[in-house]
Amino acid sequence: MPKATTQFVCAECGYTSPKWLGRCPDCGKFNTLVEEPIAPATPASKKQTMRTAISRALPLSQVKYEKYERVSSGIAELDVVLGGGIVRGSLVLVGGDPGIGKSTLLTQVAAHLSKEHTVLYLSAEESCSQVKLRCERLGLNSDNLLLLNETNLENAEESILGAEYVIVDSIQAIYTDALTSAAGSVGQVRECAARLMRIAKSRGITFFLVGHVTKEGTLAGPKVLEHIMDAVLYFEGERTESFKILRAVKNRFGSVQEVGVFEMTDAGIFGVTDYSGLFLSDTRGEAAGAAVTPSETGNRCMMVEIQTLMCRTAYGLPRRMSLGVDFNRLVVLVAVLEKRCGLPLGTQDIYLNAMGGIRLSEPSADLAVCAALASAEKMTPVDKFTAVFGEVGLTGEVRGVGYADKRVNECIKMGFRRVILPEKNKKACEKFAGKIELVPVRYVSEMIRTLFPQNAGQ
Ligand SMILES: Nc1ncnc2c1ncn2[C@@H]1O[C@H](COP(=O)(O)OP(=O)(O)O)[C@@H](O)[C@H]1O
Ligand SMILES: [Mg+2]
Repeated sequence: MPKATTQFVCAECGYTSPKWLGRCPDCGKFNTLVEEPIAPATPASKKQTMRTAISRALPLSQVKYEKYERVSSGIAELDVVLGGGIVRGSLVLVGGDPGIGKSTLLTQVAAHLSKEHTVLYLSAEESCSQVKLRCERLGLNSDNLLLLNETNLENAEESILGAEYVIVDSIQAIYTDALTSAAGSVGQVRECAARLMRIAKSRGITFFLVGHVTKEGTLAGPKVLEHIMDAVLYFEGERTESFKILRAVKNRFGSVQEVGVFEMTDAGIFGVTDYSGLFLSDTRGEAAGAAVTPSETGNRCMMVEIQTLMCRTAYGLPRRMSLGVDFNRLVVLVAVLEKRCGLPLGTQDIYLNAMGGIRLSEPSADLAVCAALASAEKMTPVDKFTAVFGEVGLTGEVRGVGYADKRVNECIKMGFRRVILPEKNKKACEKFAGKIELVPVRYVSEMIRTLFPQNAGQ
């Protein structure tokens, strides 16, 4: 029997087994055994001779700065997200749902880089002719771009070593001979990425890896790779919407606060520099059920419209649906409005949508959600020139949020005339008093009275 070259190691407790087991006999966890290659044992005598240089610790003052060489990707928005351009010898993971535009973006980057560098597009999912078709569709003139359709890492290694920039599309589709498990399994994804990292660090080759987000978001998806990457970027947004947000969730060479806004068109994916009116509708202020909030996404403040629709529940249990705002958050805010402000929402189906496919993850959008819901319930539109922001607590109080002055500034820039904000943030925003009407509120009910004075109910 040939000697086994791989073993299965429990990711939780480190238990090793020669074959795969569904449940780790040691810690009892399910689905934690991952295939790993067995490193050949090095004889002690060889170890001695191999030790050539002893690492010495240095005092902080003597540590020299490493200069990062940055190259533009040709797409300004992507450069911003990367912290000022592509760092040579770095490993960047671009994750996102299938069809969101990862291959399109990286094809454009590859075509741009190939004007001055040797770039390899290792396409493990699509054939070379498919990639060429895409290049033609996108109008990319990239005669020097090298294409390779290969799923085996060992076979592709020679081409990889000959390039300065390598795009791997996707990391889940390639496999190494060192493991017996199928491509896309946790072990394969991890081992292939680790090999590429070693090449990147030793040869100074820059890698872009495409990673699909799996249904669970974790298993064999980009999550298992995050710790070995230099930068991890995620594409967000609904597939049907043309606007996508590229967010850095990890970046060793820049801030993770940055986001890039992209628009998907037939001619490719482009950075949107004027994103100011992107998430607002043209009919703002005409229909009931909508409110605008200045949302801090990454380092940018964007005005986002939240729309709601309410209709009487046909069956006993009211329906709630939310796109762009956390579902549980919506349910909590509906309860707050019902109990603390006396709005009868218990018999209404509620649908909520944040415009343009953007995801509002910060609690400062709470007050605008309440404003949109109150507007829908009262069948009265919110004034077109009023913006709202603030976090809402369970007692119906409005809590202060970060970046209040930046938000108010954005409201002024976008031509808003009144902003309803938490009382706590009033002081930080007083400097804008001459340019915009500031209405500080302490409770949600106060906001409702301000927005709908004739129709306040109670
Ligand atoms: N031949 C085509 N013509 C127009 N649009 C296309 C074509 N092929 C793909 N697309 C669009 O480009 C989008 C992004 O595709 P792609 O970059 O391949 O996504 P990913 O690599 O993230 O799976 C797709 O959602 C699709 O709408
Ligand atoms: Mg693709």
